[in-house]
Amino acid sequence: MALARGHAPTTLPPMLGRQRVNQGSNHGMGDQAILEARGLTKRFSGFTAVDGVNLRVTEGAIHALVGPNGAGKTTCFNLLSKFLQPSAGRIMYAGRDVTAMSPAAIARLGMVRSFQISATFAHMTLLENVRVGLQRAAGLASQFWLPRGVLHRLDAQAMHYLEQVGLAGLAQEFAVNLPYGRKRALELATTLALEPRLLLLDEPTQGMGHEDVEVVTALIRRVAVGRTVLMVEHNMSVIASICDRVTVMQRGQVLAEGSYAEVSADPAVIAAYIGDDDANDAELAA
Ligand SMILES: Nc1ncnc2c1ncn2[C@@H]1O[C@H](COP(=O)(O)OP(=O)(O)OP(=O)(O)O)[C@@H](O)[C@H]1O
Ligand SMILES: [Mg+2]
Repeated sequence: MALARGHAPTTLPPMLGRQRVNQGSNHGMGDQAILEARGLTKRFSGFTAVDGVNLRVTEGAIHALVGPNGAGKTTCFNLLSKFLQPSAGRIMYAGRDVTAMSPAAIARLGMVRSFQISATFAHMTLLENVRVGLQRAAGLASQFWLPRGVLHRLDAQAMHYLEQVGLAGLAQEFAVNLPYGRKRALELATTLALEPRLLLLDEPTQGMGHEDVEVVTALIRRVAVGRTVLMVEHNMSVIASICDRVTVMQRGQVLAEGSYAEVSADPAVIAAYIGDDDANDAELAA
């Protein structure tokens, strides 16, 4: 089941119940929090988009942030990834307070956002694209000439990341020639070059056809090994198949949190989606 963006899911509750429940994709997932938000709040000229959110992301988990349209997911995600400053509340990452840090500063600590900022260069090859990411990570970005030894080492590393996302065979292809789903895989490879410990994904399957959704879902599962992933996602099948933990937001607040099975059976969650349906035209895309 894929839910069209911008529409509430009419048949969400019964279909949720039929989804395969993820048993936990990351073996050895502990109880250690890698990211924690306390009392996270964002007001936009009087309107409170995120209202006292407490969130705890366990190290090693694939954690989804869901909720009906306008629930505050994107705002919350932008707060966590430091693209917005909170009006109140604190954000802890790997045991330190990162509330006042810039996105670049937290990226250096291993908390990296992908898919919306990691632009790829259309007229560079895939290998060159990932190499640029590596150069950026190594602080070599402004150097256009590199010793051959360094270049070879970077190329070998770049190939490693392309392999991780299944693009090694297309290393010499120009990015512009890639179909949409594979462009996202390339973006992911450039993000992996930063060696993230916590990967933040904003609607990774948005705008994708069924086939690409499956490819990207498998990819997330693969790159999540040994990492933590926090993602905003509308597609319930994706969430059901790969997420260990789900936080449901409604009207700026956390409505429920638990495994997919738990939250999808929660009457408050079901009511939230149905209630949202009253205000929106619902559409279900198979
Ligand atoms: N910059 C802003 N200024 C004013 N209001 C905003 C701003 N950004 C978001 N909002 C409001 O905050 C609320 C939450 O928006 P947000 O985009 O975070 O929701 P969402 O859960 O991501 O929704 P969707 O599922 O549609 O993407 C909405 O009512 C939105 O209109
Ligand atoms: Mg949003």
